[in-house]
Amino acid sequence: MLAGGVDSPVRAGAAVGAMPPAIAHASGSRIVDVDGNEYIDYLCAYGPVLLRHGHPGVAAAVRDAAMRGTVLGATHPEEIRLAERIRALMLGMERLRFVNTGTEACLSALRVARAFTGRERVVRLRGHYHGHSDEMIFSAGASSNSQPSLACGVTRAAASCVVILPYNEVRALEAALRDERVAAVILEPIAANMGLVLPDDGYLGAVRAACDRTGSLLIFDEVITGFRVARGGAQAHYGVRPDLTCIGKTLGGGLPIAAFGGREDVMAELAPQGGVFQGGTFAGNPVCVAAAHAFLDALDADPDLHARLDARARRLADGARAALADAGLHFPVVQLASIVDFAFRQGAAPRDYVEAAQADGDAYARYYWNMLERGIFLPPSKMEVMFLTAAHTDEDVDRTVDAMRESLASING
Ligand SMILES: Cc1ncc(COP(=O)(O)O)c(C=O)c1O
Repeated sequence: MLAGGVDSPVRAGAAVGAMPPAIAHASGSRIVDVDGNEYIDYLCAYGPVLLRHGHPGVAAAVRDAAMRGTVLGATHPEEIRLAERIRALMLGMERLRFVNTGTEACLSALRVARAFTGRERVVRLRGHYHGHSDEMIFSAGASSNSQPSLACGVTRAAASCVVILPYNEVRALEAALRDERVAAVILEPIAANMGLVLPDDGYLGAVRAACDRTGSLLIFDEVITGFRVARGGAQAHYGVRPDLTCIGKTLGGGLPIAAFGGREDVMAELAPQGGVFQGGTFAGNPVCVAAAHAFLDALDADPDLHARLDARARRLADGARAALADAGLHFPVVQLASIVDFAFRQGAAPRDYVEAAQADGDAYARYYWNMLERGIFLPPSKMEVMFLTAAHTDEDVDRTVDAMRESLASING
């Protein structure tokens, strides 16, 4: 009855040749399919699960909030307190507004940027994903909608305002920004939708400087990196402050809440202060806000969390390198904080979408099913990454590396 059998296309498993198992429930680092098979989960719902599946603090907060009204249609104090807590962590978010999804956060940030600059165009980077609004989706690399066309439901008018450039190429970006029609550059400061592709040293600073010289705004899409790579996101990790930031995924501890925010003068463009309309019936609803407080409470209660996650992810990356070497494969393994990835291609770590897309999808598909058989739940696409949660143990990681060694040997043989 679901269109195409899924509520989100990547779940259909086209990139691995068949539909992944349907899932019944999840707890801690484990996910269990409808036939009762248990897996160590590295999909983690494409990023939201940072603490664990079924976090008791989040569950209790949700239950309590639900008993006091799930949606109010008016501002409530917990919403304001949540905004204050986020502002204290994400320094670029002087003013913010809650929405439900990363898609909404990104499209709203762009609209505000246009109003503030009085300019129409947006620069995107190939392979970076910012949700499925018209301007963000075509040629995203992450999507099969490679051209703006009515076949994919995107008008030429929407596409005509978008300039798509390669990641990690400063000169191309500087040249594009000489066009004074560019309102904003939007990017994932750490690209995690084409495998994990890190910014070159100095790249983000150079983008910041180019925006400053030309009056375009810089939007960091931290929907994946926010709270995950550091409490203050990639902007804290790299010390580069964007004009606008989009967050989502981890923020709700597994519930749907996202936000966009940034410079006070830019956010003043939003109605009722300014002329940009943006709203949402469920935006800032008390249940998701309570879940987000519980998530931030858990971060506050565990100052070593990110260091621990980093150590465990490093153990996984080191194990993957050893397993690959044993299989005679020289695939680059990339790890940052609790994100791990290896591209199925020989050579150095990819720097952009063209290199990332060279990964061998057929080999990845064979590897995917081999890992699943051995109790490891991976993303069903070579272009997605592995996420760890605070519930993943060293034993989980070691079991995963053993499964990697066996799977790589079997796909190689
Ligand atoms: C970097 C990034 N931005 C935006 C989005 C869109 O978020 P959502 O799926 O909540 O609309 C995603 C989703 O994968 C993402 O990875």
